[in-house]
Amino acid sequence: MTALRAGLAAATEKLAAAGVPSARFDAEELAAFTLCVERRDLWRHDESAPEFDAYVERRAAREPLQHITGRAYFRDLVLRVGPGVFVPRPETEVVAQAAIDAARRTDSPVVVDLGTGSGAIALAVATEVSGARVHAVEADPGAHEWAVRNCAGSGVDLRVGDMAVAFGDLDGAVDVVVSNPPYIPVGAAIRDPEVAAHDPALSLWSGDDGLDAIRVVEDVAVRLLVPGGVVVVEHADLQGRSAPDVFSRTGRWTDARDHRDLAGRDRYLTATRTGCPRRTR
Ligand SMILES: C[S@@+](CC[C@H](N)C(=O)[O-])C[C@H]1O[C@@H](n2cnc3c(N)ncnc32)[C@H](O)[C@@H]1O
Repeated sequence: MTALRAGLAAATEKLAAAGVPSARFDAEELAAFTLCVERRDLWRHDESAPEFDAYVERRAAREPLQHITGRAYFRDLVLRVGPGVFVPRPETEVVAQAAIDAARRTDSPVVVDLGTGSGAIALAVATEVSGARVHAVEADPGAHEWAVRNCAGSGVDLRVGDMAVAFGDLDGAVDVVVSNPPYIPVGAAIRDPEVAAHDPALSLWSGDDGLDAIRVVEDVAVRLLVPGGVVVVEHADLQGRSAPDVFSRTGRWTDARDHRDLAGRDRYLTATRTGCPRRTR
């Protein structure tokens, strides 16, 4: 056992030297995790747990914090994550919010999450929109296993398979389609070791311009949505024009527009399926 304050200071220094951007936060998270307490309750403790130093070593080697603790925070949720599944990101919380807002405009909305990963967006909608019927699909069997764990008991209809051909039984019956698909151009450099070495390839890469999966989402959303239904799609901050263009060019959407995240970066698009407006509250 080491004195907690000194241990935290040393860990913060070590993580900062290793290039970890949020060194103090991560050190505190690891200290809290090893003591089995919440980070806000650390002040009650004088000693760190015996495993703390080993966990700091792993983080200094740029293993994702969420893989070490096995948990990721997303809106009100604590999700189980680890090797084989994309770690949900804070910027996706506003994407989920847009889907939640769109779903709340309809009674008993039917919502589909394409490429659900850990199940983050699907679960957020299922827990925050009363009466929502939520369906989600994931192509990667390893990631799907994590989603199964997270979605247990939630009522989310979780399927494994390719989104391109998923949910034939829901054609023309969906109110909101939401997706955080892969959107990094093949060959682009990934700066963060946590992403490059630990996020599954299928969750990252998406053709020469990074838009291949978004084109698939456009096609699937047209098939699934009721006229007047809404699609919400996350994209890279450099795709604030090109991603909405995928939708507006087809002539199958009205009001395709882009939105920013809390950091002010272009982050997601919304578009409305052409046709008569859906029933609204
Ligand atoms: C960027 S991750 C997002 C995961 C999750 N929605 C989130 O926001 O944390 C993209 C996810 O889409 C999945 N995926 C990629 N291509 C797919 C496809 N053709 N059909 C279904 N899922 C796919 C990946 O395996 C990955 O889990």
